[in-house]
Amino acid sequence: LGIEATTDNRRLVHGRDIVILAVKPQNMNRVLTEIAEVITPQQLVITVAASVTTQFVEARLRVPVPVVRAMPNTPCVLGAGMTALCGGLYAKDEHLATAEEIFRAVGETVFVDESLMDGVTGLSASGPAYLYVIIESLAEAGVKLGIPRDVATLLAAQTMLGAARMVLESKAHPALLKDVVTTPAGCTIDGLLELEEGKLRVTLIKAVVKAAERARELVETQNAHSPTPQTQTRHRD
Ligand SMILES: NC(=O)c1ccc[n+]([C@@H]2O[C@H](COP(=O)([O-])OP(=O)(O)OC[C@H]3O[C@@H](n4cnc5c(N)ncnc54)[C@H](OP(=O)(O)O)[C@@H]3O)[C@@H](O)[C@H]2O)c1
Repeated sequence: LGIEATTDNRRLVHGRDIVILAVKPQNMNRVLTEIAEVITPQQLVITVAASVTTQFVEARLRVPVPVVRAMPNTPCVLGAGMTALCGGLYAKDEHLATAEEIFRAVGETVFVDESLMDGVTGLSASGPAYLYVIIESLAEAGVKLGIPRDVATLLAAQTMLGAARMVLESKAHPALLKDVVTTPAGCTIDGLLELEEGKLRVTLIKAVVKAAERARELVETQNAHSPTPQTQTRHRD
């Protein structure tokens, strides 16, 4: 495949057009310190690390390097990913377009303000985990009602996929689509009543908010342990 493997991050980065940083947030300071020795403003740095801001990355590189922050999710492995993107101080339209092209290859993309990236992390990056729990629970319900587990899992997962496609392709508000399924005095309204009593909505909202808060905390922890180099401090607009 022509893939060169090395344990030397400086050698890895030297002379490449695009550098994608996909290490854990806690390893980011160390990796940036290493690559700062060789990186140039002609290169594009893309980071996918949760909570690591473009400002954090820029401050640790010695020169004004274009940085794009991306927050993808695991369905990227199927080409069904969702990636939010934002640019740093030196990222121009061409850099954003390059990053968009990369993540378009594995799913949908959207540009957001960087202040929303922790929220994106809590929603679409952590989101698959919440939805797996919902699929698992629906399948458990099917098993409780005597449906074989493999059939119940298929019913639950395909229903979630179909519902997601209805929202995306009809562009209708989810509440309107829900109303279409809900016949007066029918079965679905009884199910919905149980969901309301179980506080599903508020629980999901709180789950996303908690995950986003955790993402914000991670950044604070990093900054506490690895202060911004004095010489690299810049003012943003
Ligand atoms: N998982 C998700 O759903 C998701 C979604 C959005 C964003 N992200 C972000 O993606 C990043 C990676 O997450 P992951 O779940 O893929 O983690 P992971 O499986 O642990 O991958 C981290 C990679 O970084 C490498 N690495 C560690 N230290 C390094 C160093 N000093 N120099 C060079 N490479 C080093 C590791 O190599 P070795 O295995 O050889 O140590 C490993 O290949 C994280 O920042 C995370 O926030 C993840």
